[in-house]
Amino acid sequence: MQHLKDFSPSKKLYIETLGCAMNVRDSEHLIAELREKENYTLTDDASQADLILINTCSVREKPEKKLFSEIGVFHKMKKKDAKIGICGCTASALGEEILKRSKNVDFVLGARNISKISTIIHKPKAVEVDLNYDDSLYMFSQNINSSYKALLNISIGCDKHCAYCIVPHTRGKEISIPMDLLLKEAEKLASKGVKELLLLGQNVNNYGARFSIEHPKVDFTKLLSELAKIEGLKRIRFTSPHPLHMDDEFLEEFAKNPKVCKSIHIPLQSGSTKILKSMKRGYSQEWYLNRIDYLKKLLPDVGISTDIIVGFVGESEEDFLESMKVLEYVRFDTLYSFIYSPRPFTPASTWEEGKVSKEVAKERLQRLQDLHKKILTENSQLELGKIHKILIENNKQSEVETFSEGRSDTNRLVKIEGKFINLGEFVNVKVTHAKNATLYGTPC
Ligand code: 5AD
Ligand code: SF4
Repeated sequence: MQHLKDFSPSKKLYIETLGCAMNVRDSEHLIAELREKENYTLTDDASQADLILINTCSVREKPEKKLFSEIGVFHKMKKKDAKIGICGCTASALGEEILKRSKNVDFVLGARNISKISTIIHKPKAVEVDLNYDDSLYMFSQNINSSYKALLNISIGCDKHCAYCIVPHTRGKEISIPMDLLLKEAEKLASKGVKELLLLGQNVNNYGARFSIEHPKVDFTKLLSELAKIEGLKRIRFTSPHPLHMDDEFLEEFAKNPKVCKSIHIPLQSGSTKILKSMKRGYSQEWYLNRIDYLKKLLPDVGISTDIIVGFVGESEEDFLESMKVLEYVRFDTLYSFIYSPRPFTPASTWEEGKVSKEVAKERLQRLQDLHKKILTENSQLELGKIHKILIENNKQSEVETFSEGRSDTNRLVKIEGKFINLGEFVNVKVTHAKNATLYGTPC
């Protein structure tokens, strides 16, 4: 006999995800939990949804400011009885205040509390933002929207307390997820056909510093080598490591482990040792460049990306030129650059002396991005004639256009024009030309 539940029509979930890869992963958890436990299916039409979730980011001020106008837009278009829930980092940062500022919100669920989603949807006007809540041992349902790529959280929270950053306040203290849980999960994913795994955490290479249960001593290097033993897994990526924890052992494992992709995000934040000190980053320009030199000695062709903030409190023209100098020296493949945005609960937000004006910060950002553009064009020229193995992640076949594209081991996007190749296949491609950040090539 069939259970009645099997005949009940599914409810529809619309979810908007802002911010970083961590939030993308959290949204996957939210979707999976709601599907498994509450019979929701996804819709990309908010006006048809029974539940609208906004998974927010609060790392800079702008998206936070936009949140309330967005709630208004969703409220106008939604079905009469549909609920609106605010999740993620802004939910953690503002908590109750969200309900006070908008009567159209049904519940608030902080980034540290997402495992409570299937209960909070039944509690009108609930606010769950406990920063000490620990879901590092919670077995989330699985939602894989790609059959060959998956994300895996290896830790939650962050202990670093950089002077500009709100994350410790929105995601709480850092706790690593036990290694046997991670290995089991990775094995499960690999058995379902996942070839590429992206490990996530605020400081991935600080893995093992703290668990919420008794745990044998392990570190990120060990985790990488254990994950690489899983048959079926072909590629392992991770983001973000912290420059401070880049010891020789880690860089050597990164270089020699054939399954670990040769691209790495190394957030610089500033090239000036003086500014790094006031940011409380824990390293100097000299340390950063020393790590880069060692990495490039081990792997001359490694792909490196970074984050740089301009206009931090106290940043002089000279300090800014140090960031330009490091950019020129390292020749990053990808640059994420930001104007400093004062955030509540952070030490730097109260500093008055040495504030940089919006105009100066904007002008610095432009110079930084112009330099990066020039470097990127030069880097791309060096790629011509190289052969990259890419994993096909996007393809199209139509009368107008046919192509397939994917990422190299070094994380460069490579496009094959005129050929339709199945998603999830590996192909060797010889690079023939380049345009901006994209490389073009032919299978070989
Ligand atoms: N202002 C500007 N950028 C910031 N980031 C973090 N906090 C701030 C802030 N207050 C940037 C950092 C970080 C990236 C995710 O966002 O560069 O690495
Ligand atoms: Fe990610 Fe930080 Fe934004 Fe939260 S505040 S979504 S952790 S970037």
